[in-house]
Amino acid sequence: MKRDLAKQKAQELLSKMTTEEKVAQMIQVTYTDGGREEALKWAKMGAGSFLHVLGDDARELQREAMNTRLGIPVIFGIDAIHGHGLNTKATIFPSQLACACSWDPEVAKVMGEVTAREVATDGLHWTFSPVLCLGRDPRWGRVNETFGEDPYLAGELSAAIIEGYQGEDLSDDEHILACAKHYLGYGEATGARDAYDTEVTERKIREVFLPPFKRAVDVGCATIMTAYGCIDGTPLTAHRRILHDILRDEMGFDGFVITDWDNTQSLMTQQHVSADIVDASIKAASAGNDMIMTTKGFYEGMLTALREGKVDISVVDECVLHILTIKYEMELFEKPEKKGEPGCFGKAEHLEAAKDAARKSVTLLRNNGMLPLGDGELKKIAVIGENADNVRAQYGDWTYFTHPMPDPTNSRPAFRPYVTLWEGVKEICDEKGIEAVYAKGCAVKPAEGVDESADLDEAVRVASEADVILYAVGDVIPQFGEFADRADLDLSGRQSELFYRLKATGKPICTVFIASKPLCLGDAAEKADAVITGFNGGMFAGQALAEAIFGKLNPQGKLPISFPRKTGQVPVYYNQLPGWHGGKYWDIPQTPLFAFGEGMGYSAFAYEGLSLDEELKLRVTVKNVGDTEGTETVQIYQRDVVSSLLTPVRRLIAFTKVTLGAGEAKEVEIQLKKDDFALVNAECETVVEPGDFILYAGGSSKEEDLISINIAF
Ligand code: BGC
Repeated sequence: MKRDLAKQKAQELLSKMTTEEKVAQMIQVTYTDGGREEALKWAKMGAGSFLHVLGDDARELQREAMNTRLGIPVIFGIDAIHGHGLNTKATIFPSQLACACSWDPEVAKVMGEVTAREVATDGLHWTFSPVLCLGRDPRWGRVNETFGEDPYLAGELSAAIIEGYQGEDLSDDEHILACAKHYLGYGEATGARDAYDTEVTERKIREVFLPPFKRAVDVGCATIMTAYGCIDGTPLTAHRRILHDILRDEMGFDGFVITDWDNTQSLMTQQHVSADIVDASIKAASAGNDMIMTTKGFYEGMLTALREGKVDISVVDECVLHILTIKYEMELFEKPEKKGEPGCFGKAEHLEAAKDAARKSVTLLRNNGMLPLGDGELKKIAVIGENADNVRAQYGDWTYFTHPMPDPTNSRPAFRPYVTLWEGVKEICDEKGIEAVYAKGCAVKPAEGVDESADLDEAVRVASEADVILYAVGDVIPQFGEFADRADLDLSGRQSELFYRLKATGKPICTVFIASKPLCLGDAAEKADAVITGFNGGMFAGQALAEAIFGKLNPQGKLPISFPRKTGQVPVYYNQLPGWHGGKYWDIPQTPLFAFGEGMGYSAFAYEGLSLDEELKLRVTVKNVGDTEGTETVQIYQRDVVSSLLTPVRRLIAFTKVTLGAGEAKEVEIQLKKDDFALVNAECETVVEPGDFILYAGGSSKEEDLISINIAF
């Protein structure tokens, strides 16, 4: 059903609703707070939505809702963040950050499609994904949930995953609603403190943080989630300019907005801008939040406000209209449950998609020739490190490990299929007749008071008897996620110490980084013979890494985020403004440890002949100068030479992937737009200022990896 017709129907229904029914429609109740009885009570009251409920529990609530006076179906939301991971049977994909290493919108789209199919089959309609916050400060606990540090890359991948979730038509049985979150600037909080104050101006918002959301709105994302936190003292939950004026009036968003978790209550209890729930309810609804996540007190709060004439019913009407419009467009009234594809959880095609995503996300960052491991003289491999065989760390956040349901205290065993690094390496070694041995060495996050010395000794002994060492380092739950920002990004526990001891054996050593986000690897990267990562690569991360290590797979990942050398070096995102005296901290090199866009494979690529014609068609010839077929991500950046305001030293404006056989060359064509050269001026207008620009093409954001030409408008 088209949105206009849906709106008309919503309007008709709205005119029949009592005030209580309208206010209830705005509430989203979590099943994890009060369980079945409480949820059933709210379904009878006409709550508009539930979250964190699966399968038959959801179906029961839906039946209850359909039996109410007006029979308005509820909509079920879930955090299906990288796959429908809160369900133990689902397919688990790489995290958003890992997926972004693929620089491949198709990977993101397929991840969205598979997730949608599994969510729909579970009786649900809506995922709180994707995250469009930027991961510009790795201290933030939720960097793993982002598509990295760059607005353009994040926007492209977001658009693709939203299309994957939603398909062509919101009523489609195998597609679900997407939710672009957290609107706005959430990842930029001062000190990387989760849900804290964000020091940004409206101009900067428009230049850096808004573009991915604009992209999401343009591809029809049906819902938006408001951020925790505040900008210049105004909580996002109460920020009408951002939630309404910019989002709806300017960007043309026409879906509905939901607060984040209990964010209406937080106006009172955390942010102290409301003295009571009545005021908090008025603020949240008036600012443009249509649906209120988990603050049940909103019901009485808003009814009181209406009764006492503190707010006009038109405020509520507008919110409910937005919600009902989407419900009609989904055709929920005719089919409150999507048909889905029964039993499609983890079906072969889905697992294959997760495998493909993991493979395309593997990123090789350093290699002095140690990789790929050949057969021949290789007799014995030592695999060391907790994360080499830790499926929880491999999965990262937002799975049944981190958010077990319906009982949040219940920890789950690990469900197959999955392949850890150790298992992946072992399998290949068995095929090749190589002996593989594993030793944990040390815990990533050691338990207090435990002496690990014997474990370290054992790992060193095992390593010294092997021909090569694969050493997995990283982080583990709960070192990341919500409420888990880090002040110190160094490798925790005795991981660095163990690296030195392994290195001292004189054996070639490859550091395998299995982590939620960039950490300061120090010598574990700089003195390693090879460094490879897949971040939180999902079910098949271990297999994909092992395949890359043995050359069964030619890695093609590129970093969507820069790695700092030291915590004090952050932020190290590539698109910095110029003007820093000296351009560096005096005690460390200027460059990040690994830069945005960086990543190598077993081929090498050369660039030449960059040109731009009058129609803004860019051409550049890319040649595979290696001796094996490989896939390169061609990255296009620009720099505004002189501008009215400071502009970044480099800005990504396009990218594409090209697969070339050994020795093969190809001219790549990319259609640019004039707007790719725009800035947001002091009046907050997006304009292209006439003058000179530098146009770059190459395999990373690093100067030495780029060729350039000067152009002018
Ligand atoms: C998170 C959201 C999430 C919501 C529902 C919040 O705490 O910030 O990203 O979608 O909870 O689980």
